[in-house]
Amino acid sequence: MNETAGFMAMKGAGYYSKATTGARDVINLATPLIIAAVDRMNLADDATRVRVADMGCADGGTSMGMWRKVLAHLRRKFPSRPIEIVYTDLPRNDFSQLFRTIHNQTDIESYQGELDEIYPYASGTSFHQKIFAAESVNLVFSATASHYISKVPCNISDHVHMVGASGAERRAYEAVGRDEWANLLTLRARELVPAGRLVFLNFGIDEKGRYLGHTGGVSMFDMFNRLWRELAAEGTITEAEYANTNFPQVYRTVEEFVAPLKDEASSAYRAGLRLEHVESRHLVCPYAKAFAEHKEATKFANEYIPTLRSWSEPTFAAGLSGARPAQERMRILDTFFTRYRDAVAAAPEGHGMDYIHVHLVCRKAPP
Ligand SMILES: C[S@@+](CC[C@H](N)C(=O)[O-])C[C@H]1O[C@@H](n2cnc3c(N)ncnc32)[C@H](O)[C@@H]1O
Repeated sequence: MNETAGFMAMKGAGYYSKATTGARDVINLATPLIIAAVDRMNLADDATRVRVADMGCADGGTSMGMWRKVLAHLRRKFPSRPIEIVYTDLPRNDFSQLFRTIHNQTDIESYQGELDEIYPYASGTSFHQKIFAAESVNLVFSATASHYISKVPCNISDHVHMVGASGAERRAYEAVGRDEWANLLTLRARELVPAGRLVFLNFGIDEKGRYLGHTGGVSMFDMFNRLWRELAAEGTITEAEYANTNFPQVYRTVEEFVAPLKDEASSAYRAGLRLEHVESRHLVCPYAKAFAEHKEATKFANEYIPTLRSWSEPTFAAGLSGARPAQERMRILDTFFTRYRDAVAAAPEGHGMDYIHVHLVCRKAPP
């Protein structure tokens, strides 16, 4: 099986944050939670460095509004402290676009030039590994990224995502999700300074069993599966390519998220990580919401599909045989997403990618 780090990247050249306004809204709405966590850190204005991190940042566009507010808040409260902000993602991420976002070379307004003594950096090390030296980060933030596992444990029969898996296959994904989450928390606990904070906005399954694009109406992952299956049935892709297409993701339940933080024997707990806050949030798909107003099915379909494509395309591309020329692979992907768009345009009711997040805030207890 392919390692996720070998192929995963959001669509580059700014496509991701342009097409994904919902992810930006989720982060912006969580800004008060982040500022409150910063205030609880009880930092002093002592001229030493403050370091914050944005893990799984993609092109940096969706978190920029939040960071402008949080960094301005830190700058006001602690005028003497230089601030380092470290963006992290996988090696194939479009880091060039990230730096263009930071340095005001896109249409997104940045904190750069607006605030003094802010030092941006980037790392291409996976969040499933150590990224920082021990006790060197004050605030770790991550949005809509922790559901990515490092490697899929098996192919899923008759589906493309673990939410459609059952039996031993479902359990295999859940087990990887459990182990990698426990490890990820332990790594972050080690990296945080005492009294540092972790704020994670995670894709997951809420108390009502809802998850991304599965909140009533047409289920997005079932739709992905139906159309990909159709391409296999008609011979556009092979059965092997269908079988090899599996999102390297695990959606965890609220209980699964908090389990290592409640278990005093867990390595994250023993490393000092303590749960301060957990809540699940539901954000209505901005494109479906707009459609409810304008009622133009084609406009909705044309605006909605790019948001799906911005993050799902690498998984479908990775399922296709490497023996196919790149142009042929792109043609297949175009056919696939065009069919999704046509299906939405023909019968728009019930489509939408509502976001379900499980927000977590943790503190690093003093030794
Ligand atoms: C859906 S995007 C979210 C981007 C941004 N944080 C947001 O909320 O809009 C998920 C990001 O996580 C990154 N990612 C996936 N696995 C990762 C890993 N193991 N380490 C670091 N980043 C990872 C992906 O490359 C992608 O950029």
